[in-house]
Amino acid sequence: MGKRARMRRCDGNDFDVIYLIINEAAQAYKGIIPNDCWKKPYMSKEELQHEIDAGVIFWGYEEEGELLGVMGLQHIQDVALIRHSYVRTLKQKEGIGRKLLLHLQRQTTRPILVGTWADAFWAIRFYEKNGFQLVSMEEKNLLLKKYWKISERQIETSVVLVDEKWRKFRS
Ligand SMILES: CC(C)(COP(=O)(O)OP(=O)(O)OC[C@H]1O[C@@H](n2cnc3c(N)ncnc32)[C@H](O)[C@@H]1OP(=O)(O)O)[C@@H](O)C(=O)NCCC(=O)NCCS
Repeated sequence: MGKRARMRRCDGNDFDVIYLIINEAAQAYKGIIPNDCWKKPYMSKEELQHEIDAGVIFWGYEEEGELLGVMGLQHIQDVALIRHSYVRTLKQKEGIGRKLLLHLQRQTTRPILVGTWADAFWAIRFYEKNGFQLVSMEEKNLLLKKYWKISERQIETSVVLVDEKWRKFRS
């Protein structure tokens, strides 16, 4: 990790910067995901607080004391979900997302699942490059209902990717 770079668990003091990073990076979805799924801000402060209260633990990648990317981990039932992966727009595609993902993978021994918009092709590629695989439409519908709390519309417009542990655990 370069100069003065570190991975750390976020806390209450990071709330505003997490909010900022999510809403800046989520601009990538604008015009790509269905119009009725896009809103401004993409995630309100109330929604972010709700996610934290629901057990999403945010980790941050920091350089020179500045958070450049965040990624959340949520333990639900027998699995871990990767939630809300966002890297500052100008710092994307430099490997920060990968570092965060590897770090989160080390925080759990459970199978890991991640959901994203079906139209967010770059995010799907990002997870595939890191060993995740898309599941069938049928399976993603079941998984999204079992482990996530999202609307029918979001289920319809999302995909799920799973790690190797999940694939072994299932077979
Ligand atoms: C998805 C995201 C978290 C990945 O973090 P990152 O630091 O950019 O990713 P890395 O540098 O570790 O990995 C880069 C790979 O991710 C994919 N990728 C990331 N951003 C991309 C983009 N804008 N266009 C195309 N591919 C992209 C590519 O596969 C890329 O590999 P390549 O450069 O060899 O083509 C980050 O790009 C982001 O915040 N994007 C916008 C919000 C988003 O889609 N979040 C996902 C929520 S589930």
